[in-house]
Amino acid sequence: MHDFRYIRGRLYCEGVAVESLAHQYGTPLYVYSARTLRDHFHKLDRALAPLDHLVCYAVKANSNLSILRLLAKEGAGFDIVSGGELYRVRQAGAKTRQCIFAGVGKTRAEIEQALRAGILAFNVESEEELQIIDQTARRLRKRAPISIRVNPGVDAGTHKKITTGTKANKFGMPLRQVRRLYQKAARMKNIDLRGIQTHIGSQITSVAPFVHAVRKMLPLVREMRRKHGLTFFSIGGGLGIVYRPALESGQRRWWAGSRLDIMTAQTYAAALLPLLEPLGMKILLEPGRFISGNAGILVTEVLYVKKTPARNFVIVDAAMNDLIRPAFYDAYHEIVPLRKKGAMFSADVVGPICESGDFFAHDRRIARVRSGDKLALLSAGAYGFTMASNYNTRPRAAEVLVDGQKFRLIRRREALPDLLKNEMI
Ligand code: LLP
Repeated sequence: MHDFRYIRGRLYCEGVAVESLAHQYGTPLYVYSARTLRDHFHKLDRALAPLDHLVCYAVKANSNLSILRLLAKEGAGFDIVSGGELYRVRQAGAKTRQCIFAGVGKTRAEIEQALRAGILAFNVESEEELQIIDQTARRLRKRAPISIRVNPGVDAGTHKKITTGTKANKFGMPLRQVRRLYQKAARMKNIDLRGIQTHIGSQITSVAPFVHAVRKMLPLVREMRRKHGLTFFSIGGGLGIVYRPALESGQRRWWAGSRLDIMTAQTYAAALLPLLEPLGMKILLEPGRFISGNAGILVTEVLYVKKTPARNFVIVDAAMNDLIRPAFYDAYHEIVPLRKKGAMFSADVVGPICESGDFFAHDRRIARVRSGDKLALLSAGAYGFTMASNYNTRPRAAEVLVDGQKFRLIRRREALPDLLKNEMI
């Protein structure tokens, strides 16, 4: 599943003791496993081998240049959502021909940037956006490749902040308006109709919503292909990962490689291949979390243990600015010590920021740690660093990539002058 495990009581990432990384680079520290990244990409890529397909990694999940470079080398395309992400993938040496550009609010400048870069397609999300893309392409004397994002009206049953496929969401075009928009696009001289896209949400752990959405889309996809010669169908991302193995599998020692009953690349492919193979179109995917989520951890040091009559508080040096998922989504991240301990206690694991929302766990059974001990927040490889901020004027963490016995700093810890460099008095 991933490459973080205990060896003789110490947490390792592949062949490297995480503690040695923490000593060398300090905490808070993100540590990623190259092997896990490659493995997850190829699991999905292989499972879809019967289809003509392209896995476009969703850059927003983890956009470190070294990680983008690694995935580009493995053959990934990229799903980008801003001019900034386009800049990143180009700096990482990825092929812009394999980039799709999503998002409801692309600016004119971003559209121009992407047209000049020669991306695979824009996922268009509104009529006005379509017009702006057409106009911009005309001005640049180019044809803009596009697909239209369809909102299939499927509730993926995930957290409300990451559900995207219901009628109440801002994303995509409602099924009933899609045909008209394709007709309109077909008449635009600088628009090149290439595909159709849908994405229903994130952290979806069963195949049913994906099957439901694809089934709902199929008649439309066939019709639009016939009428407009579309060549690809993007089924979006959203494949969930295991955050809570002990609870989800009923097993405690999950890092020993326990077998888990959630959707895997194989079960996902097995459910979707029978629907997609007969189409004979190129299939695009946009997974982010599935590839990088379990490939990263956030390492933090215990500053203080504060015992009150009501609670034990473990105050650590990482905070919501480093990993916002618990505060934002009530997300669960497993918390384990870098050195295994026998004794456990119940505690709230909290950061130093002056907000009650600054927590990583409430009333959690964890190792009985003391000041100076180090902990790892697991499954922090996706939407961890990319959602980090400088709130409380806290420098953002360093990032390290481990590959076998080797490791490399892939982002320096921010220094205080970095935080002020764009400000003036
Ligand atoms: N495609 C589109 C159009 C998306 O909006 C997203 C994610 C993806 C692909 C990739 O989704 P994934 O495969 O990673 O689930 N910050 C939240 C997740 C936000 C997802 C936003 N869109 C979190 O930490 O859970």
